[in-house]
Amino acid sequence: MTRTFWVGGNWKMNGTTAAIKDLVNTFNAGSTASDVEVVIGAPYVYIPLLADSLRKDWAVAGENCYVKPSGAFTGEISPEMLADVGAKWVILGHSERRNVIGESSEFTAQKVVKALEAGLKVVLCVGELLEEREAGTTQTVVNSQLDAVIKTIKEADWVNIVIAYEPVWAIGTGKVATPDQAQEVHAAIREYLKIAVSSKVAEETRITYGGSVNGKNCKETAQKPDVDGFLVGGASLKPEFIDIVNATQ
Ligand code: G3P
Repeated sequence: MTRTFWVGGNWKMNGTTAAIKDLVNTFNAGSTASDVEVVIGAPYVYIPLLADSLRKDWAVAGENCYVKPSGAFTGEISPEMLADVGAKWVILGHSERRNVIGESSEFTAQKVVKALEAGLKVVLCVGELLEEREAGTTQTVVNSQLDAVIKTIKEADWVNIVIAYEPVWAIGTGKVATPDQAQEVHAAIREYLKIAVSSKVAEETRITYGGSVNGKNCKETAQKPDVDGFLVGGASLKPEFIDIVNATQ
């Protein structure tokens, strides 16, 4: 089967109303291939603006959510609220949630369940720290992050999940993984899905790469057989994001 190429932007905690209006105008005018699925993750407060103004062939994502639909959880945002203001996706398990805020794989898995129940699709981020790569434990770390989700959701749920492999040492550092490094981990993730879930899920799930992707380095990585797209941080705040959307052209 063919996996539709998928490119996500993750704006993280960046943006102003004025800057986002400018960027949306640029993106809306950009010429992009029709066989690419594009999603932009924005800070909660800008989701309604983005959902109203962004081109309709692209979708909007929240960058996190909580595990309850409503209630006394000061400062949290539910997946139902994200859906209510126009998000179709949510990014979960990003390394900044795991390593800066301290969220566990188990908590991330609960969020995945609740987001899917609310009708959102999920970008599930996994990835190792530099010391874990140097210790040769990349795959153990990634498999364990995946395991928490694998044992929590049903096989049929995987159709609504895109995996983002984001080695932490490559995020925001300018040190992009080589195309071969990305391919090696993506292939191992696919093999693990085959063993731990099913051949169908392994074959159909999109596995994207994130970490210092830009308009120049994306093309070669995009050619790798197990790289099904990108999750882009810094470069998704720039016009060059269009070049990344068109990486396979
Ligand atoms: O989620 C995307 C991300 O963490 C990568 O960020 O700035 O290295 O592209 P960046």
